[in-house]
Formats: sequence, structure tokens, C-alpha cells
Amino acid sequence: MTPELADVLSAADATIGRGEVLEAHGDLRVGVDLGTAYTVLVVVDERGMPVAGSSRFAHVVRDGVVVDFVGACDLVAQLKTEVEGRLGRVLDSAATCYPPGVGRGEVRAVGHVVEASGMTCTALVDEPTAANSVLGLRDGAVVDVGGGTTGTAILAGGRVTATMDEPTGGTHLTLVIAGALGVSIEEAEQRKTDPSQQAALLPVIRPVLEKIGSIVAAHIDGHHVDSIHLVGGTSAFPGMPEIVGEACGVPTAVPGNPLFVTPLGVALHDARGAMPNPSIARMTG
Ligand SMILES: Nc1ncnc2c1ncn2[C@@H]1O[C@H](COP(=O)(O)OP(=O)(O)OP(=O)(O)O)[C@@H](O)[C@H]1O
Ligand SMILES: [Mg+2]
Repeated sequence: MTPELADVLSAADATIGRGEVLEAHGDLRVGVDLGTAYTVLVVVDERGMPVAGSSRFAHVVRDGVVVDFVGACDLVAQLKTEVEGRLGRVLDSAATCYPPGVGRGEVRAVGHVVEASGMTCTALVDEPTAANSVLGLRDGAVVDVGGGTTGTAILAGGRVTATMDEPTGGTHLTLVIAGALGVSIEEAEQRKTDPSQQAALLPVIRPVLEKIGSIVAAHIDGHHVDSIHLVGGTSAFPGMPEIVGEACGVPTAVPGNPLFVTPLGVALHDARGAMPNPSIARMTG
């Protein structure tokens, strides 16, 4: 039986967010998401339920590009060791992801980071496509608004027909808050993610949210899209679905906590125990 999305997302909060280990059914699959803001390693079981995971706020990637290769390898190796310790199992393979707009060299780099951390990279998937592996939508658009980029996948009849990406995300919101309030980046990040302060910050960041809305509108232009589904940490900012929906003229929703949807979807692409699959062999060969 496929688990309910709400159960999957709350298990993601428990495992990745709070370090809990949940009971696993069958084979394990691993996803690594090297983000501009958070690098996440998550383990899901045969049903796609998260069983363990960890994440770190780090600056090894900027706008989808690995800018600190050694730092990224160390970070993924640390997350791997930490999660292996919690699970009492060795993680020997993982899938990973990239924003749709980046070049082949950048895609290869994320695969090499996973391999350098001691796991076979079994799949490379773009972020919004990974997210839709969790959401399972047949039609519409999935938009991943992360720390550095806003990526869109257009779906028709269960297939991804187009993907696009633009470098604007939560980091830009943090910079605007820091500038407007005259506080440090760290303080601005903390205020932005504090639910008790978000309503007061909305007027300050509304222009950036509207810009994200106009990016999504440009992405879906010319495609038949009658619903938009937002994922990625920045989609958790209250008011995001309304602003994006208005910019696009399309009903827009956010599933529960959108922060871990993409890494969970990445894990679903890990073909555990397999040799590197043909797509990564082509990318890295
Ligand atoms: N509750 C929240 N409200 C608003 N923003 C949030 C919240 N939680 C996280 N964020 C923001 O979401 C961003 C991180 O989201 P996510 O982990 O999806 O991005 P990423 O994968 O690191 O970046 P990218 O995919 O762009 O490389 C950060 O900018 C963070 O401040
Ligand atoms: Mg991301």
C-alpha cells in the first residue's frame, strides 16, 4: 500500500528534522540532495517511507552549482556516517539531484560528490521531477523553490514534458530582510523562518515573492497547466501559494511541510545494489 503523503512528510520531519529512526520494511534506498541552503541525506524503505536521515545548513552549493567540491564530499560523508550510525547499516548507494537548468559538468559534479563520499551513485534526477516522484501528479506543474533556485517541471499524462530553472530562492529573501532591517544574514535567516515573525516580514519580501511568482508564470507560459504544486523550503513561507497563484492565474497548493519533498523523491530513484545505471555512466564517463 502506498503511504499517505501527510504520513510520509511527518515521518520526514521526525527522521531528517529530529534524528529519529523509524521501522523499515524491505530494502533501503538513499537520496542525497546538495542544496544551496541545506544538504540532506535521507533513507527510505521499500514503501517510500523515510526511516532515517540528516541535514546540514551549508554553503557547498550555490544556485545549483557545487562551489566547494571538497567541502561537499566531506559533508555528504559526514551525513552518511551519522545516518549509518543511527541505522546500524552501511549505505552503499544513493541517488542524487540537480536543478534542471545546469550544464552537464555540474550534473556530473553532484554524482562525483556522492561517489567520493563512498556510495555508488545509481541515479541523477532533476529536482522538480524528483519531487513529483513523491507527489505522483499526472498533470500540472511542480515548482521547487529552494534556497538558491526556483525549478519547474511540467507534467502531462504522468510524464515530465519540460523542466526549467531560474536562480532566485530563499537566500534572496534572507538578503532582502538583512538589508531592510539592518541585521546579519544569520539573524535575517532566523527571523524569516520564525512563524511568529513571518506575517510582519511579508511586506518587506513581497517584491521577491512576486518575482518568484513571475518566474513561475514564465515557466508555465505556453504549457497547459491547471494546477501548481509548490515544494522546497521557501514554499513554507505563509502567503507563497496565494502570491504564486495570483501571478500565474492558476490554483496553487503547498503539501504539508514542503522542505523535504525533493530529497525524499531523490531517494525513490536509488536502485539499490545496482551497478551505476546507464544515465550516470553516460554523465560521468
Ligand atoms: N518555514 C520556513 N519558512 C520560510 N522559509 C523557509 C522555511 N524553512 C526553510 N526555509 C527556507 O528554505 C530554503 C531551503 O529550502 P531547500 O532545502 O528546499 O533549499 P535547497 O535545496 O538548499 O536549495 P536549492 O534547491 O535552491 O539549491 C532556505 O532559504 C530556508 O531559509
Ligand atoms: Mg533543493
